[in-house]
Amino acid sequence: MVRQSALVVVANRLPLDDSAAPDGACEWRRSPGGLASALHAILKQTPATWVGWAGGIGDAPALPDIGSLRIRPISLGQDELRGYYEGFANSTLWPLYHDAVEQPVFDRGWWETYRSVNRRFAAAAAEVAEPGAAVWVQDYHLQLVPAMLRELRPDLLIGFFLHVPFPPPELFMQLPRRVELLRGMLGADLVGFQRPQAAHNVAQLATKLLDAESTDDQITFAGRTVRTGAFPVSIDVAEMRALAARPDVVAHARQLRADLGLPRRVLLSVDRLDYTKGIEHRLTAYSELLRDGRVKVRDTVMVQVAVPSRERVESYRALRDRIEGEVGRINGEYGRVGEPAIHYLNQPFDRAALAALYRTADVMVVTPLRDGMNLVAKEYVAARPDASGALVLSEFAGAAAELHDAFLVNPHDVDGLKETLLRAMEARPADLTARMTAMREHLDRHDILAWARDYLTTLDQSGRLVAWLPRQARPPGTSPTVPSPASR
Ligand code: ADP
Ligand code: G6P
Repeated sequence: MVRQSALVVVANRLPLDDSAAPDGACEWRRSPGGLASALHAILKQTPATWVGWAGGIGDAPALPDIGSLRIRPISLGQDELRGYYEGFANSTLWPLYHDAVEQPVFDRGWWETYRSVNRRFAAAAAEVAEPGAAVWVQDYHLQLVPAMLRELRPDLLIGFFLHVPFPPPELFMQLPRRVELLRGMLGADLVGFQRPQAAHNVAQLATKLLDAESTDDQITFAGRTVRTGAFPVSIDVAEMRALAARPDVVAHARQLRADLGLPRRVLLSVDRLDYTKGIEHRLTAYSELLRDGRVKVRDTVMVQVAVPSRERVESYRALRDRIEGEVGRINGEYGRVGEPAIHYLNQPFDRAALAALYRTADVMVVTPLRDGMNLVAKEYVAARPDASGALVLSEFAGAAAELHDAFLVNPHDVDGLKETLLRAMEARPADLTARMTAMREHLDRHDILAWARDYLTTLDQSGRLVAWLPRQARPPGTSPTVPSPASR
């Protein structure tokens, strides 16, 4: 007998550790990636079902519930992994949606696999959703699921949220299957994006490709109206604040600084190893600052955490080779015995270790060429209890629209990036405190719960979905704000 839920989340990836503990217990793996980080924070205590892939090939492992959250794993075969995940999702849609910073691959063989795997996710969601349930579909992997699900279960309330940017129409128009992809997504009742521009792009495309009547907040076609809007995703601010204040984390941060040789300044970057993150541009800028003698190795240390990602995709393998070659070259040229110019860490860290790294960093360097949001930037801000530290942030990250007080930069402009890095390194403490305080106040009001409340109350105005969200202690004097649709 299949257990059904009133709230079902469907995302490609389950945030679970697929290597189970010896006693068979299963722990949350905060898998590196914004989607899992964000949803984990709101779902861990919610009576919902999460439908997703646990990683790996072949039969899906039987996974126990996690607290009140049920897990419904989806299996992927070798060919499906190749055609759906590595192929259409991560070699066609991912680069295209990120401004084609890497050439998208159009392989006609991948489409059928993408479609059949989407069908499998839709069927699983239909099976575990109770009558009248709300199903919240996530991200570009599953863009066909909303329409498939509506066909299977017209009684459901269906939401879709895209964590990555939605591209300008001229890029989207390159997709050979553009009509199906648009129709698939618009099978939802509410389609959410990180930025208002995305809703605008979709409205234009719907008018052109589907002959729809479209505005930036609703699209009417084939007898239905779909609402759209921007809902900028966020982080579990309270969790990161609490972690950063823990005595063991503070001690770890102090130890890290000592291990780094007690430099005057620590620069930190934390990324999935992805070509959208601008790691190469950043390394070029840093290396030129070293070459020009504007940054000295003993005085300043850079730490680059680059967790492996999508390693079977050729462009990711090639990127890793290039970055490791460049780090090696920079250290060979500018490092000294026991004093590398860049500490390069190609490994996952737990949340406490990440918090300690954030506390150690005087300058956080977040310079993606394009990013839907970038939660790392928000995590850094939340992890600075004394409001010290500088955030250097790309204009092309969704987070830049909220964190105006960061040192904003165009990462393609390497000279501008060098100057901004120097400005951030040399800024007066009072300036940094003012900037950081403003960003912290913004995050307190716009945390992950505010995001989920905003999305779910817009999806279902009765408030029944919001009632399941965890209640979290908030710092005094702050309250969750739900921006009105007009202010988005
Ligand atoms: P993306 O969604 O493209 O991966 P984000 O910056 O939005 O980028 O989210 C990345 C998430 O992954 C953050 O929550 C961050 O803490 C986490 N993360 C990044 N690097 C690591 C790492 N080395 N170990 C563990 N978690 C990581
Ligand atoms: C981004 C995507 C997520 C994805 C994550 C990690 O955040 O928006 O959907 O889960 O990257 O990527 P991966 O391919 O490891 O799931």
